[in-house]
Amino acid sequence: MAKRTSLHGLWSSRLAFILAVSGSAVGLGNIWKFPYVAGANGGGAFVLFYLLCVALIGLPIMMAEILIGRRGRRNPVATMRIVGEEEGSRPSWALVGVMGVIAGIIILSFYSVIAGWSLSYVGHAALNRFSGAGAEEVNALFGGLLADWRVLAFWHTAFMILTIFVVARGVERGLERAVRFLMPSLAVLMVALLGYAMINGDFRGGVNFLLEADFSKLTGDAMLAALGQAFFSLSIGMGAIMAYGAYLPEGTSITNTSISVVLADTGMALLAGLAIFPIVFAHGLDPGAGPGLIFQTLPLAFGNMAGGHVFGLLFFILLTFAAWTSSIGLIEPAVAWAVETRGRSRPASAIAIGVVIWLLGFLTILSFNELADFRVLGRTLFENLDHLSSNILLPLGGLFITIFAGWVMAKTSTSDELDIGTGGLFSLWRFLARWVAPVAVLLVFLHATGLLGWFGLAGSAG
Ligand code: PHE
Repeated sequence: MAKRTSLHGLWSSRLAFILAVSGSAVGLGNIWKFPYVAGANGGGAFVLFYLLCVALIGLPIMMAEILIGRRGRRNPVATMRIVGEEEGSRPSWALVGVMGVIAGIIILSFYSVIAGWSLSYVGHAALNRFSGAGAEEVNALFGGLLADWRVLAFWHTAFMILTIFVVARGVERGLERAVRFLMPSLAVLMVALLGYAMINGDFRGGVNFLLEADFSKLTGDAMLAALGQAFFSLSIGMGAIMAYGAYLPEGTSITNTSISVVLADTGMALLAGLAIFPIVFAHGLDPGAGPGLIFQTLPLAFGNMAGGHVFGLLFFILLTFAAWTSSIGLIEPAVAWAVETRGRSRPASAIAIGVVIWLLGFLTILSFNELADFRVLGRTLFENLDHLSSNILLPLGGLFITIFAGWVMAKTSTSDELDIGTGGLFSLWRFLARWVAPVAVLLVFLHATGLLGWFGLAGSAG
């Protein structure tokens, strides 16, 4: 009896971890962001470069984050400091954790607004508003949502309350358990959508767009967008995964877990792309339409398919849940830090940080209406927040994390944690973490700023 309990306990905690990490990884990034960023950056070549970033940079950095997290067993700020000192380096590595806390706060400020769109579409779907709709009606519905900042603020507030509620009560466990059936359900729904797109959409057009690589479209900016998207989608570079790694039991395989999560996350993004672009092309819509892409295309599918009422409703409910489980990862480093370092209670920390994020969210809300024409560096406020956090702070955080794991930590420390011996697999990880990932991130940064061209190493960035 005792044996059975312990066995069950071990297995379920490993599963709980995989669920928590994949719950954090799979979210709006896969279903909302991946298709529109791929669309805006020309498709095929972007997707190929994205997959390269995921495999060569994302996977080793995810493993690095989990192993650092498990070694430090604290919030990311404290973990970076403690492990840094343990390895005979400076306490200032804590700044990497601080940067992650800031990135999480910025990302959640716009993430919550978009999750609010999804919430409001649960309402539209419930009221059967997509039924029989054409492109014009669907556009009007989306345009109407964006036009009124009060409506956006309402849904943003609702989503932030959901997030704060879970984090304040520390009931992530409940949500983790929910992930167990929500994620497979979302995957099933995406496969069904893919089936619909194959039959009723311009499937060939969609596949060509996603998979046919035209490298002339792969500008420096597109590469940076692909790199940023890889970090965003995998939830790495800001300590979210590190915070989860802090609760990982010894003896759980970091390698296997990371590979499963990366595969699930990437599969979900590709599935979303393959389902959405055939619908985009069948209706003569613009693949580069921007952040509204899935909100302007999927309702067309739901409105014109058998059972679309229930299907659409389920889809937006599951999408909201996926966003919810990700939002917790975004706020957790900040809350854990406030609780551990500032000695505040969990509810007080969650509410205080949540309010800051909620306020910051108004920059995003207003950039879709009142301040739509206001540009800084050629971008709206939302685009700036997204660019700064996803394309700069996350890759920069990831760069420091991989340098830390590859160069600062002793070889024995990392091989201890990874527990895959010191043979080929470990050497491969270490080579990726020490050389490939840092150099690749730096090259993409340089290329995007045009500096690579300046050094005479490549054509100028687009
Ligand atoms: N990975 C999440 C998504 O794809 C977003 C996220 C980023 C969550 C960083 C946590 C940390 O939606």
